[in-house]
Amino acid sequence: MDVPSFRLDDPDNSCEIVQGEERFIITCDNGETLNIRAHDYGEIYKVPGLYEYLFYENYKCKSPTVIRSELEAAVESENQDMSRLKVFDVGAGNGMVGEELVSAGVEKVVGIDIIEEAALATERDRPGIYADYFIEDLTRLPSEVEQKLINESFNCMTLVAALGFDDIPPHAFAEAYNFISESGWVAFNIKEEFCSKKDQTGFSKLIENMTQSGIIDMKSQKLYTHRLCQDGTPLNYFAIVGKKQEDIPAAMIST
Ligand SMILES: C[S@@+](CC[C@H](N)C(=O)[O-])C[C@H]1O[C@@H](n2cnc3c(N)ncnc32)[C@H](O)[C@@H]1O
Repeated sequence: MDVPSFRLDDPDNSCEIVQGEERFIITCDNGETLNIRAHDYGEIYKVPGLYEYLFYENYKCKSPTVIRSELEAAVESENQDMSRLKVFDVGAGNGMVGEELVSAGVEKVVGIDIIEEAALATERDRPGIYADYFIEDLTRLPSEVEQKLINESFNCMTLVAALGFDDIPPHAFAEAYNFISESGWVAFNIKEEFCSKKDQTGFSKLIENMTQSGIIDMKSQKLYTHRLCQDGTPLNYFAIVGKKQEDIPAAMIST
């Protein structure tokens, strides 16, 4: 896609800068000015190229390519073929992860996102990447959508830059995970702090329980800089790739 040019100004403020709460003043080509917050995805996706400009050009995000290469390496190490992967891309946004997966040669990608603006931006900027794209809340799926997702027989799930921060909570992660077939691949990233003992989000406990109970067979965990924060601080994430062994039981989801 052609990326239009933008001018970005940080509003004057002396407040502590918190990931996701970063505020920007964006001036578009046509002179229009937007005052937005980093996690106002709906507003950002409405403007073609703005998500790419903000997070990729300006804040050096590289997660879709990191997840793609970690997944490719794991699949290759088991002498499997990317072209066999039927991927469920969770929190798909405007399709940047789907685009990476399609260029890596996967069989198909189906996306899901909670907001309509994500699906509209994907259709506008990356048409044809997703075989299907659902606008749904994973924790409240209508039964017909649930059945469609089961019928897809996914053997891979990707989830990039969408865990925590009022995005996808642990129980929604578990719902998505349970759509993947046994021995299916799982590739996601998660903020380093959410994997620490001090974590309050529930992800650290869930991942530890999944690993210890053999629900996931961990293949790789790479610590890398997901993106920079507005003040230039590196935001470090783990890129995790594993193979699903079993569904996550309901009792584990509520812990
Ligand atoms: C930072 S964007 C990441 C988009 C894409 N994965 C990427 O890496 O470019 C996070 C996305 O998660 C979506 N999201 C947040 N909560 C969600 C939920 N409960 N179910 C599905 N998607 C959700 C948001 O709407 C947003 O599009």
